[in-house]
Amino acid sequence: MKKIGVALLGLGTVGGGTYRILKNNHDSIMKNDGIDIEIRHIIERDKEKAVALGADLSIVSTDINDVVNDKDTHIVAEFFGGIEPAKSFLTKCLLAGKSIVTANKEMFSKSWVELEAAAKKGHAGLYFEASCVGGVPIIRTLTESMQGNVIQSLMGIVNGTTNFILSKMADEGKEYGDVLKEAQRLGYAEANPTADVDGFDSMYKLSILSSLAFRKKVPISQIHREGISGVDKADIEYGKQLGYTLKLLAIAKNRDGKIEARVHPAFVPSDHPIAGVKGSFNAVHIVGDNVGDIMLYGRGAGDLPTGSAIVSDIVFAACQSKPKYAPFKNVDNVSTKDFTDNYLCRYYLRMTVADQSGVMAKITSAFGKNNISIASMKQMPSAGENATLIFLLHQTYEKDLNRALEALKKLDCVNSVNAVIRVEE
Ligand code: NDP
Ligand code: HSE
Repeated sequence: MKKIGVALLGLGTVGGGTYRILKNNHDSIMKNDGIDIEIRHIIERDKEKAVALGADLSIVSTDINDVVNDKDTHIVAEFFGGIEPAKSFLTKCLLAGKSIVTANKEMFSKSWVELEAAAKKGHAGLYFEASCVGGVPIIRTLTESMQGNVIQSLMGIVNGTTNFILSKMADEGKEYGDVLKEAQRLGYAEANPTADVDGFDSMYKLSILSSLAFRKKVPISQIHREGISGVDKADIEYGKQLGYTLKLLAIAKNRDGKIEARVHPAFVPSDHPIAGVKGSFNAVHIVGDNVGDIMLYGRGAGDLPTGSAIVSDIVFAACQSKPKYAPFKNVDNVSTKDFTDNYLCRYYLRMTVADQSGVMAKITSAFGKNNISIASMKQMPSAGENATLIFLLHQTYEKDLNRALEALKKLDCVNSVNAVIRVEE
């Protein structure tokens, strides 16, 4: 029987879930995988958390050297969150030859290159299944199961908090602020939920996922990011009437040899499988040139789902005879020529205009002059002297759209462009 010593850094939501799984599933892992996992250290400043889990307090400390200097600790799993001290602690462990497992996508996406260098020096492994899409086994799908394909696109809901918020707003008419509080109470949200609602968390995850999908580093600097804090309930409702559901999507495409990577709210047809992904569930849709479409679905956040991914990494790490690193040249200084920000998409636009004759002609002319073709237009019942217009546009390049928006804003008859939302089919 292989004996593996582990250290857990942090006993919050993910650390607590991991602790419980390692205890509850200890015997099944031993029986199924031939590994006897012993929790040898817990680094946590709040001892009450250890007491609540029934952990042995003699293994709880705040000193990483307890872990680094213990030759019987082989794997270190981190769930502190934030950059420091997580990064320094993990670097120390890697240099000491201990493999690391992390759920910390912010730190990992920003420090992958440096951590990999330390891991190579220490002949240790780096595992990060839990960093993306919670309990859904997306990392190993991309690294171990898709080699027979050139991946063309990856699109998904990769943040549980925002999906929980948008689902509750759309299905139950709840208010944004109330649902965000509920997501925090349930342990889905980041310590600073701005990371969720402003799209940072999805951007970190998309950087990791698209790098693995395209076998080319996609740094966060090359990812367009928008969040959901500016979403108006009216657009969720109008979208519904048009047969669309609003989601925060992470999208990466290889279009004619250039990568486009973006995170933003988008409408998807309400009968698209992604539209049916509700609450804290996540899903990622991948298109490979040979396999075609694949969709992975499951809980994207929470203690036990994320703990499940952490424990699978611990067992996987324990079974490797030689660590494997990123399957691409892992550098931060990429050539911008490999990326494009002239995205090609459909759009939903909502604007308030003067309810007068001739308005439509001026608007359609602004679209036409910028190579934009209108798929449909709806005028909502008038309120006073203004009218609300909703346009759905055919596929258009981002740069053409931006030029058209500038032209629209200059028209006297256009009071405001209230919403510009991409539509993914
Ligand atoms: P929590 O805030 O619940 O837990 C973090 C724990 O680490 C807290 O108990 C904190 O203690 C402790 N801690 C942080 N820094 C130190 C330190 N220097 N020394 C000792 N203890 C420390 O966060 P989560 O478990 O929710 O998230 C952890 C990581 O996992 C993040 O990177 C997050 O992005 C990621 N993640 C989270 C998921 C989720 O569903 N929550 C899912 C997937 C990934 P204290 O409370 O005293 O600060
Ligand atoms: N805050 C993250 C989310 C946790 O809501 O998806 C899981 O990574």
